[in-house]
Amino acid sequence: MPDEIESRLRPFTADEFDAAFACLSEGFGEDITEVEGDRMVFEPERTLGLWDGDRVVATAGIYTRDITIPGAVVPFAAVTLVSVSGTHRRQGVLTAMMGRQLREVHERGTEPIAALYASEGAIYGRFGYGLASYQGQLKGETHQMRLRADVHTGDGRVYPVDEKDFRSAAIPLYEEIRPSTPGLLSRKDRWWDSLLTDPEKHRNGRTARRYLLHAEPDGTVTGFALYRRKAEWADTGPDGTVFVTELQATHPAARAALWQYLLAMDLARHLSVPLAGRDDPLRHMLSDPRAVTMAQNDGLYVRLVDVDAALAARRYPTTIDLILDVEDGFCPWNAGRWRLTGGPSYGRCIRTDGDPDLALSAETLGAVYLGDTSLGTLASAERVREITPGAVAAATTAFGWPVATYSPEGF
Ligand SMILES: CC(C)(COP(=O)(O)OP(=O)(O)OC[C@H]1O[C@@H](n2cnc3c(N)ncnc32)[C@H](O)[C@@H]1OP(=O)(O)O)[C@@H](O)C(=O)NCCC(=O)NCCS
Repeated sequence: MPDEIESRLRPFTADEFDAAFACLSEGFGEDITEVEGDRMVFEPERTLGLWDGDRVVATAGIYTRDITIPGAVVPFAAVTLVSVSGTHRRQGVLTAMMGRQLREVHERGTEPIAALYASEGAIYGRFGYGLASYQGQLKGETHQMRLRADVHTGDGRVYPVDEKDFRSAAIPLYEEIRPSTPGLLSRKDRWWDSLLTDPEKHRNGRTARRYLLHAEPDGTVTGFALYRRKAEWADTGPDGTVFVTELQATHPAARAALWQYLLAMDLARHLSVPLAGRDDPLRHMLSDPRAVTMAQNDGLYVRLVDVDAALAARRYPTTIDLILDVEDGFCPWNAGRWRLTGGPSYGRCIRTDGDPDLALSAETLGAVYLGDTSLGTLASAERVREITPGAVAAATTAFGWPVATYSPEGF
């Protein structure tokens, strides 16, 4: 059945964008009216649509971007725009679209991995996407959030700017930070355009986006933050909230100075950081670590499109030399035994018929790929079978990474 559907899929054109978004609106059960940002980054040739007469009944797409992985930056297929109309659900349409996408990415040969954010956690594991990073909403009461005495804010200054000045300073800064933080994505100009669009309908009563820079005494910009505010009043007085959507800094004092500014705003009582990373430094900068709470959830799901290219692309904090027996029913070219050798400055993965040390699925390999999900934890969850004693411990260390992922944007 999915084969028959697959043969009826075709990319939708820029002229069909609105019809495709009508399908997405229906699938998501909401009126998607603010599509300016999506239009800016839309890649028609990498979309897929299914038609029933002249109605689009399913959509999927890929954005061409780079992602930082442990020790490297690689091109990846950013899977997006996935929807199937209520009239065609549970007939194998998503399965057909996922199969077609992954085969095309494999044949293209330039993107070793695909990744996505899932609307529901149970959808994508069957297609080999593993839960690879975590994010969530970090919250706190600003009056309880004091920086520790040993956290220094340095000699720089924090100052607000308009969007134009923000762009000219923040884009080079982001490029400086991007290669060393797993999970950060390349942002060509059109992605910055999309990220910084600020339609009023999306503000939910909050202010327009505000831009902050941090600069050293010599003028070098070393940090930025994007935020909004919402002014509210309780019976007892001011009750506003500061919403921080992204904060980047090249060194700890710049980070501390930006947080100090954001936490000290008059009339604000609450802080919300909707896309904080799993182990955001902020908690550890406060005299009371309990002053912040974090509702942690799933972040990126990663799919190794080509196990050998993907595992060779990343770096490993300790040396590794293991044979992996990979199960992959959805992308059968990955199935079988691979010898992985790697270390801090190299990775290599080749076919072998040697005896395996570990048996695991492509989904599980996707989960450990960014270094944020522990292979040992997955072994405890019966997701990895240890054949050679000690292999789980060795692989857990080698697949880890000292820098936690941070992905403060959806796609
Ligand atoms: C999620 C969605 C795309 C699934 O499309 P679909 O064409 O019905 O999926 P398929 O028929 O190919 O389903 C394949 C399998 O996944 C399962 N599945 C599909 N959607 C699922 C969900 N939301 N939760 C759990 N399982 C799901 C199916 O039951 C089926 O399982 P089976 O192989 O054991 O029978 C569709 O329901 C939809 O558009 N939902 C709303 C929008 C959305 O969430 N999009 C995803 C954005 S990330």
